[in-house]
Amino acid sequence: MKILIIGGGNMGLTYARSFVRAHITSRLDLRLLARSPERVPALAAHEIGTVWGHPAECVPGADILILAVKPQDSPTLFTALRGLVQPQQVVLSIMAGVRIATLREALGTPKVIRAMPNLPAQIGMGMTAFTSTDEVTRAELVQVQNLLSTTGKTVYVEEESAIDAATAISGSGPAYVYYCMDALMAAAAQMGFTPAEAELLVSQTFRGAVDLYSQSGLSCGDWIARVASKGGTTEAALGAFSTGAVREGLVAGARAARDRAEELGR
Ligand SMILES: NC(=O)c1ccc[n+]([C@@H]2O[C@H](COP(=O)([O-])OP(=O)(O)OC[C@H]3O[C@@H](n4cnc5c(N)ncnc54)[C@H](OP(=O)(O)O)[C@@H]3O)[C@@H](O)[C@H]2O)c1
Repeated sequence: MKILIIGGGNMGLTYARSFVRAHITSRLDLRLLARSPERVPALAAHEIGTVWGHPAECVPGADILILAVKPQDSPTLFTALRGLVQPQQVVLSIMAGVRIATLREALGTPKVIRAMPNLPAQIGMGMTAFTSTDEVTRAELVQVQNLLSTTGKTVYVEEESAIDAATAISGSGPAYVYYCMDALMAAAAQMGFTPAEAELLVSQTFRGAVDLYSQSGLSCGDWIARVASKGGTTEAALGAFSTGAVREGLVAGARAARDRAEELGR
């Protein structure tokens, strides 16, 4: 499978490294397109795949094109790709907020897959939601799912609107986790722990709680009930969260992110 990654930034390089590490493609079959010929040496320094500076040199012959540039760079990219993408090529876009209809029209190609990965993809712990046009065959979808799975877990969604929802939950989600961790580290510091101790207490608690949850069949509510005894410390904390409408705040935050994703897509 010949793969062309367009955009060798955080995500583009994450995919390149993950595909090669998983032996899904060889360095020889992996191509990367830099923004311009002048940027080729910087990208080539990563020593992953063959790096090109002109789309016309590397788009033909690729089976799958992965668009990993920033959304604001997409109009320039679409202009550069015009007339080069063939109908049998599969286009996988991870650009936030760039709709399938836009991609179809701008590239003049029917086989489009839109995916929303997240930051932990960098360490193989990512979560990616993806959807596709009807023209993408089952075999092509499986191929792309295999590619995406090299960076973590994946879920296929039927409706494109679910990509906006996934953007709000798993795409932005790592920031919500860091927000909560940061608040608890601040609380730990206020209680007299050093920054290093606060970091250890909080990060290991998050890691342990998530792993415990994952290894059990219990719900979050079940686990909360196991930690919180009547009249105890956890119950005191949960009462304060309730007074501060923390849960409602998190739900409102996720909704605001989903609304913003929809707005950006328009
Ligand atoms: N980072 C995440 O966690 C994450 C999560 C979900 C989705 N995404 C999506 O992934 C995409 C990439 O994000 P990123 O964090 O990897 O961005 P990034 O680090 O800024 O990388 C973007 C890369 O695209 C290159 N580029 C721009 N225009 C180009 C063109 N016309 N041809 C070839 N290359 C071009 C840039 O080159 P120069 O360095 O030369 O400018 C840069 O290396 C975005 O659309 C974002 O919405 C990212």
